[in-house]
Amino acid sequence: MEKSFVKNSLFSTPLFEFNNLALANELRSYLTSLKIDGIESRVAKHIKHNMSESKFNLFNSDEKIIKTTRAYIASCIKDLLNNLTSRDDDYKIAFSESWYHIGGKNSSHDVHAHINCSWCGIYYIDSGDKNKGGQTFFCNPIFSNFLDLGTLHHNDTEHIVTPEDGKLILFPSYLKHFQSLYTGETERIVIAFNSSIIEKF
Ligand SMILES: [Fe+2]
Repeated sequence: MEKSFVKNSLFSTPLFEFNNLALANELRSYLTSLKIDGIESRVAKHIKHNMSESKFNLFNSDEKIIKTTRAYIASCIKDLLNNLTSRDDDYKIAFSESWYHIGGKNSSHDVHAHINCSWCGIYYIDSGDKNKGGQTFFCNPIFSNFLDLGTLHHNDTEHIVTPEDGKLILFPSYLKHFQSLYTGETERIVIAFNSSIIEKF
């Protein structure tokens, strides 16, 4: 007897990965020329350990490298939206908050989600020393109340992203995540941002 079935992917979580190493290298030079001291954003200081953080207005700058970064990331967000909708639309995208971290030895960032935004991103500018932790863990938003062989596939606890220079991760704002303990000596540099999709053309 023929079997026929429809696979339904309801409630899966999209997460997109891009890479732009040349831009990350330019950003590394620019960001290290800026000096930040402590958590200048003053946001959720208690969940950020052994790291410095800029104010949340990084993308407001008129510096050429920042304008280029903003345009590149906006183009990636458009690509992901068109991928999800199977269309070829243009979008007006606003970055409500944008900042960077510099993480030293034994830095970590406890679990959190980004609020008041649509798509969020993490752009690894300098991933630091290899095999010294510091991965980004995305927590599974689906929690089954029963665990057996039938529920294992949708009950995985987390998706782990290993930082690489130039890697850009775009994720929906509801997805909780954290940065595991980084024990390397080289400082890590990571840009993060929150966006809203204002208009479609
Ligand atoms: Fe985050």
